[in-house]
Amino acid sequence: MSERKMITAALPYANGPVHIGHLAGVYIPADVYARFQRRLEKEVAFICGSDEHGIPITIRAKKEGVTPQDIVDKYHEIIKKSFSDLGISFDEYSRTTSKKHYEVSQDFFSTLYNKRKFTEEISEQYFDEQANEFLADRYIVGTCPNCGNDGAYGDQCEKCGSTLSPSELINPKSMLSGNVPVLKETKNWYLPLNEYENFLNEWIILGHKDDWKPNVYGQVKSWLNDGLKPRAMTRDLNWGVPVPLPDADGKVLYVWFDAPIGYISFTQEWAEKNGKNWKDYWQNENSDLVHFIGKDNIVFHCIIFPAMMKAHGDYIMPTNVPAFEFLNLENDKISTSRNWAVWAHEYVEEFPGQQDVLRYALLSSAPETKDNNFTWKDFQTKNNSELVGIFGNFINRVAVLIHKYYNGIVPEGEVNAPELAEITKAAAEIKNFLENFEFRNALSAMMNLARFGNQYLQTEEPWKTIKDHPEKAAHSLFVAAQIAVGLAQISEPFMPFSSEKLLKMFNVSQLNWKEIASEKILIKTGHQINPAELLFSKIEDETIEFQIQKLENTKESNKKTNPKANPMKDEIQFDDFTKIDLRTATILTAEKVEKADKLLKFTVDTGVDVRTVVSGVAESFTPEQCVGKQVMILLNLAPRKIRGIESQGMLLLTNNADGKLVFVTPDETVENGVEIG
Ligand code: MF3
Ligand code: ZN
Repeated sequence: MSERKMITAALPYANGPVHIGHLAGVYIPADVYARFQRRLEKEVAFICGSDEHGIPITIRAKKEGVTPQDIVDKYHEIIKKSFSDLGISFDEYSRTTSKKHYEVSQDFFSTLYNKRKFTEEISEQYFDEQANEFLADRYIVGTCPNCGNDGAYGDQCEKCGSTLSPSELINPKSMLSGNVPVLKETKNWYLPLNEYENFLNEWIILGHKDDWKPNVYGQVKSWLNDGLKPRAMTRDLNWGVPVPLPDADGKVLYVWFDAPIGYISFTQEWAEKNGKNWKDYWQNENSDLVHFIGKDNIVFHCIIFPAMMKAHGDYIMPTNVPAFEFLNLENDKISTSRNWAVWAHEYVEEFPGQQDVLRYALLSSAPETKDNNFTWKDFQTKNNSELVGIFGNFINRVAVLIHKYYNGIVPEGEVNAPELAEITKAAAEIKNFLENFEFRNALSAMMNLARFGNQYLQTEEPWKTIKDHPEKAAHSLFVAAQIAVGLAQISEPFMPFSSEKLLKMFNVSQLNWKEIASEKILIKTGHQINPAELLFSKIEDETIEFQIQKLENTKESNKKTNPKANPMKDEIQFDDFTKIDLRTATILTAEKVEKADKLLKFTVDTGVDVRTVVSGVAESFTPEQCVGKQVMILLNLAPRKIRGIESQGMLLLTNNADGKLVFVTPDETVENGVEIG
């Protein structure tokens, strides 16, 4: 058994706040595990931070019309605060834009480079000549070859769900400039993952069949069966950690190269502040490295990052990678873009002082082996029947009765009472379950002890025996007090806020796990306890209905009245809109363009001038039908040559139900050159 536990939780992208899916599937279980390991008196480093590079960040920045730095500054703070509000006990929560992280990740890259672990490859990538930038797949939009959606991305069509590569898109356009991207050669550094297949096979497939979760093991196996390919560890992007080589201008480390190194650089930041040696945690066989992640991160933590560490040579491999499945919300996939989520920061605001309720509810439906579901009704039941009805009720009765009959002084009882074995049993069960990453079972073991305590009081009825058999009542409450303190102790990893309150209430200090499991008596006869404090309170129907209504509203606003309508484009700012110069205009002449079936050439009076516009409407109108029509024109669109004719602006058109083009016109004739907006 190792003395040290190096525990990591996947670095959340700082492109949005965290929601219950993240909490249930990574951060709360990881926190329970870390807290528990501290109670086993291991030397724990529980490390996390914001993942601030990568396309999700730059996309979000574009969407909000701000810089990537603005985005990560904003969400890093929100995420960090949510974690701390919910009692996630990171030893360090840093960010991948920290100076230290740049140094450590560049140094890691240089080590691999100097050891000749990379191959250099020239490939063709899409390039935007106007923006003078290579384009990530996400930055190329076009028509989906499978469903015809005009807004498909270079990596995926969100309408039909198919995975794409940019070269498959029909009419690919750069999202940066709207221009057609060109293919351009570029050099990048690749990690030949194929060379690590044997190592991975031996280490995981042969070595961890029995102790890794089947979902993790299975995914690794299938990747290895398919064979691994070299993967680029650098990208042509301008947001990220610069590649530390002389001929690498405009190139950054692949986000999945730099992010996991964040675990290492943040451990170093923590170690420096706390007088620790980070190598004890990362480069010493006497340390267990455990990565908590969601299932979409398995390949990065079980194949790519281990291959990187192996290539480096100094690092230990993870002893386990507990990956969780996904949590759904009210039977629907959680989605940031559809706002279908319960946000951590909103929960904290709306349920003040009830952090443990969320921790409890999410742990009891943690998606350990399959996707799971969160419903508000369920949340209410868990609070009202389990936390209030069983746990809180038991504790409250014990404390109130001890005050009522004995002025808050623990009465005398038999120290060899058989019921006391239930406490050590629960502690042992929890230990077993947590060591196997079975969080739901561990939580049940805790609640079962509370259930046992409740039943014990119910059978013993000290409120009755106090009259005729006072020594029996004293004994019952002595035993009940042991169980209550047992709960105060063992609940800490799961419900740290309540545990702290309970320890105060019973006026005892925290024990380590070994002490809980071995000490017979957790609170002595004669010990003075403090007044009973409310631990949990009933959650009313109105509160739950309010939350359900909030989700209903989201659903309503997500609903389409026209199922064929494309999803809304990325949000723009008012300033973007004011750049567009839309005017009323009248078509003066119209004629066919030679050898172009679709085009008509117009002269239009824009009020500002008379100009030529070419438009692809010949299949919908004859020239005669157009003359005299009042239309709308995008006046300040840069002129373009179409079939040798310079088109100066764009007439606004839309499609009717038969697919025929129709002009957009004001619903009453107005002067030409009037602005629209
Ligand atoms: N940001 C990634 C995600 O949300 C996780 C990064 S984990 C790390 O999927 F190991 F790369 F840090
Ligand atoms: Zn599609």
